Amino acid sequence: MSGNTLHNSRIILAGFMGSGKTALGKSLAENTGFRFFDLDRLVESAEGLPVHRIFKEKGEEWFRRAEHKCLLQVLNEERIVLATGGGTPCFHKHMELMNRKGLTVYLQCSPGVLAGRLVHEKPHRPLIANLSDNELPRFIDRLLREREPYYLQAKLIIKADHLTAGELAASVAGLISS
Ligand code: S3P
Repeated sequence: MSGNTLHNSRIILAGFMGSGKTALGKSLAENTGFRFFDLDRLVESAEGLPVHRIFKEKGEEWFRRAEHKCLLQVLNEERIVLATGGGTPCFHKHMELMNRKGLTVYLQCSPGVLAGRLVHEKPHRPLIANLSDNELPRFIDRLLREREPYYLQAKLIIKADHLTAGELAASVAGLISS
């Protein structure tokens, strides 16, 4: 991607758990030369605990407040690619803020594809850790319906069901420079 076509100094990735924000973010950071940040990792270092323990020991509300603070802080940086958490866009008017601060990209995946990916990743994901494999698809379906109105406020929407991180990065890069 040539530097002069990228007017946005922050690329902000949004989407459901398992949509590939982190993998795409790393790939995009390589393409652009921007620094990569993962909001969950920022919260973890601010709190000194992994996300699943923050949820367990302090509760979701605490996590959302910590997430909010870290988001405000990281959005002061420039030339960054930021992978947000699956819930980030849905709290504290974050989509409005993120749209003001940078180029927001929604990685849109279908509930079936998400369920297929997340079924192997439950233990580290507090919202789904206690669900049975049978309950998971319905949970995803419901939560995605609730969240999609927020995600859809992103400036770019990429259908991400069948793309690798490299293909996604190329597709975002193409949209940015067109
Ligand atoms: C969450 C998604 C997670 C993490 C936390 C809550 C959510 O991030 O922020 O477990 O509410 O969907 P990822 O989307 O990176 O898994």
